[in-house]
Order: sequence, then C-alpha cells, then structure tokens
Amino acid sequence: MIKHSKSVVIHKFGGYDVLKIEDYSLPDLKDKIEVEVYYCGLNFCDIYKRLGFFNKPLPFVMGSEACGVITDLGLKTDQFQIGDRVICYDFEEGMYRTILRTSPEKCFKIPDEIPMEDGAAIFLNYLTAYFALFELGGIKSGFNVFIKSCGGGFGCAATQLARTVKNVTIYGVVSKGKEQQVQQNGVNFVYNNESDYLNEAKKDCPEGFDLILDNESGSWLNEGCKVLKFFGKIVVLSANSMINNPNSISLFSKLKLFVGVLSFQLSSLMNKSNSVCGLHTGNLVRENRKRVLECLNVIFDLYKNGEIKPKIDSIWPMEEVVQASKVLGERRNVGKVLLKTRN
Ligand SMILES: NC(=O)c1ccc[n+]([C@@H]2O[C@H](COP(=O)([O-])OP(=O)(O)OC[C@H]3O[C@@H](n4cnc5c(N)ncnc54)[C@H](OP(=O)(O)O)[C@@H]3O)[C@@H](O)[C@H]2O)c1
Repeated sequence: MIKHSKSVVIHKFGGYDVLKIEDYSLPDLKDKIEVEVYYCGLNFCDIYKRLGFFNKPLPFVMGSEACGVITDLGLKTDQFQIGDRVICYDFEEGMYRTILRTSPEKCFKIPDEIPMEDGAAIFLNYLTAYFALFELGGIKSGFNVFIKSCGGGFGCAATQLARTVKNVTIYGVVSKGKEQQVQQNGVNFVYNNESDYLNEAKKDCPEGFDLILDNESGSWLNEGCKVLKFFGKIVVLSANSMINNPNSISLFSKLKLFVGVLSFQLSSLMNKSNSVCGLHTGNLVRENRKRVLECLNVIFDLYKNGEIKPKIDSIWPMEEVVQASKVLGERRNVGKVLLKTRN
C-alpha cells in the first residue's frame, strides 16, 4: 500500500525557496480516488498561497490543479473507474504530487481527444474565462473586450473564448516582449503595461468597452469605469496590485488595495449604467458542480471542434518548481506553465 508521494510542500510562507520537494504522506484511500498525476497546472493563486495571503495552516501540499489517470478507488461509484483520465481541482491545496488522493467531487473526466498536458492547462483558466465572458459579461457579437493581462494562462484562454463570438474586438495589456505572441493568439490591439495604456486604448476604441476583465482591482476600478460604454461591465478576478515583492505581501500593499476599493465611486457606475462583478471559480467548483460540468462540456466541445487550444508557455520537471514559479511571478509567461511529474 502506497503511503507517500513526491510533492511540492511548504512549511513556512515566504519567497520561492519555501517551495520544497518531499515525500509527503497521502490521506487514507477510504472515500477517495487515487490518481497518478502526469501534469500539474501552475496558477497565479499559488503566489498568494506561498506568500501566506490566505493564512492556511502549515505545512501543506501546494497546487490547485492536476491531470492524470485513476489508479485506485476507495469508494463505490458509477461515475469513475480505474484507468479514467481525470482533471483534479481543489482551490485550497494538494495537487502538486506524483500521486494524489482526493474526493470524487474534485475529479472531472476528460475526453480522449484532449492530451494530458492540455487537460492540466484547460480547467481553471477556461472555466474562469467562460464564466467571466459568458455568464457575467454577457458577451455578444460586436463587443469590445479589454483584458487587463492578456498574456497569462487566463488571458490567453479568455482571448480564445472571446474569439468564438463573431465581431468581437479584443484589447489587451502585457509586459514588454509578449506583444507578437498575444496578437497571434487573437488580441487585436496590444498595449505595454508600462505605457499609458488606458488612454491609448481609448484612442483606438473611442466608443468605449463593453466588458473589462480586471485582475488589478483597487483604485484601478475607477479608471476602468471611465472607459466603459453604457451598460458596460467590469469583472474583477483578482487583486494583483498587492503582488509587488517576491517574498511577502506588505501591510502597505494591503492598505493601498483597501483604500483603492474604498475610493470607488458608486456614482461612476450610475452615470453610464455600468456594473462591477466579482468571480471566484474555486468557490463555484465547490458549490455548483452541475453548472461547472455544463460549462466544462461546452469548453471540451470547443476544443474538439478546434476553436480553442490551451497555449502552453513551458513545462518543467516537478523538481524545478522554483524556476517554474518564477516564470509566473517574474511576468515571463505567455500562456500556461506546467509541472511534469513523470519521466
Ligand atoms: N477569480 C478567479 O476565480 C480566478 C481564477 C483564475 C485566475 N484568476 C486570476 O487571473 C489572473 C491570471 O491568472 P493565471 O493563473 O492565468 O496566471 P497568469 O496570468 O499566467 O500569471 C502570470 C502573469 O500575470 C501577469 N501579472 C499581472 N500582475 C502581476 C503581478 N503583480 N505580478 C506578477 N505577474 C503579474 C503577468 O503578465 P503581464 O505582466 O504580461 O500582464 C504574468 O506573466 C490572476 O490575477 C489570477 O488571480 C482568477
């Protein structure tokens, strides 16, 4: 009986070096599904977790998503069998392992047409993009969509999904050097994040945006509202403005975010009948599996029809998790960064 598996574990919060590779104990198989992992998907929320933003009890195994094959079942179920290829997702923790055991509600079968690495890249980014664009954003033909960070895993997924709607124009911001790749992925107008990008975008889109996907939050929301059209919406996904130091989130950054949000003017929404919505896909997956499965099937069908294809930036051996994490934290990725758990 296997008792441990190679895992990415943290025992204290801090910089990249707190990410350790260890043989870490597995939970009992009872009521769980055992999965041999092939690939794990890195996510921006890993940065918040490593820095201790959620103040989770230590130690814990890092990681929200992985893709692999079921090797054992600790429960009777009609839904899964040994040999099934599955995506495993848990916002909280526990997915960066060579073998994992998790509950069935955290497992999602993937169609044969989707290779393992795309399986590890598709779940969180495409579901989040789908909910942001279609459920909350109400995207339709003719929309002008502004994506605050269009080059990461989420940004590339959102660009491709927005492209499935006719006559949509996509405006996106990235760090220098990524412009060509995001244009190839479908962004029409690209701006460097060190430029006065909102004013530049306003010149390219004088009528304003129907939808803004924002991962900055704070005082940025007031700026975003200024470039919305009548009935335009901002979907807030994150608060990246807090992440400006690889080793910690300072009290100053938290306060700045808090003050920024407090300074938000409700009247700026009323003036042009705008709305601001929030999204937390992790909570949705936990609370509404039925809805998640429905959306996932739409995403899988788009994949099978060749309308979307996860853009993978790089794949790293699990032992190189520190270098892989730096690619995200240092803003170098275009697309998804993966860990490979098998030779
Ligand atoms: N609400 C939800 O349920 C949900 C779910 C998934 C993702 N998200 C959010 O969506 C965003 C993208 O997530 P992801 O997992 O796909 O990650 P990602 O975009 O691949 O993350 C890395 C990229 O983020 C950009 N970035 C923006 N601000 C940054 C900062 N302060 N520090 C470092 N990089 C920064 C960088 O690209 P550029 O410099 O080129 O912009 C970097 O290359 C994140 O904000 C994440 O929290 C939210």
